[in-house]
Amino acid sequence: MTVSIALTKGRLEKNTVELLSSCQYGIEQLTHKGRELIFHDTKKDIRYFLVKAHDCLTYVNHGVADIGIVGKDTIMEYGGSFYEMLDLNCGICRFVLAGIKDHNPLQMTGHIRIGSKYPNVTKAYFASLGKDVEIIRIEGSVELSPLVGLTDGIVDIMETGTTLKENGLVVYDEVAPVSARVIVNPASYKLKNKEVRAVLHDLEKAVNKSC
Ligand code: PRP
Repeated sequence: MTVSIALTKGRLEKNTVELLSSCQYGIEQLTHKGRELIFHDTKKDIRYFLVKAHDCLTYVNHGVADIGIVGKDTIMEYGGSFYEMLDLNCGICRFVLAGIKDHNPLQMTGHIRIGSKYPNVTKAYFASLGKDVEIIRIEGSVELSPLVGLTDGIVDIMETGTTLKENGLVVYDEVAPVSARVIVNPASYKLKNKEVRAVLHDLEKAVNKSC
């Protein structure tokens, strides 16, 4: 039975393709891609979809993709009814609380406004601290919002720290670690158990080899 794997495009793409390559999978179509949306493995009975992070969850939730490779940040924000099976130990970054220097949102009293692309993660984080904040959803370049006075701080992913540094922002707290994960549709795990487990096994082996 063919296994369908939803891969996240962008930031995770290079790492994922490298992992599949060290699994000895036939991913030439992925490494020399044009505008096509479905890629067929030339060695295994696998097809790949290359999609945005949130869509990866959607395809796996609906069982159109049996397996998904997606960041823990997206999983934490949206959740879903899939199994999280494997930490790929790549695409490593962190959720942090950051803000302008000498303006720590955690030391503020009164109304606190936090900008984020991840309102659910932000809400859960401040709830864990027993703090009530107003969350302002920002779609991208979140770092701008405290600089122009829209927010008192941000909850965002930090990889190298360059974006924060170049904009004079500092980290006030670590919220959670993030890395790429393998998720599996529960029905696929039952119905295509042998095939799905074979892929998980290959990925796990490739991760251990690269460590
Ligand atoms: C992410 C994140 C930060 C930046 C952090 O944004 O939201 O802005 O990367 O990376 P760094 O610590 O290596 O500088 P992304 O590049 O995904 O773009 P966006 O802000 O438009 O969402």
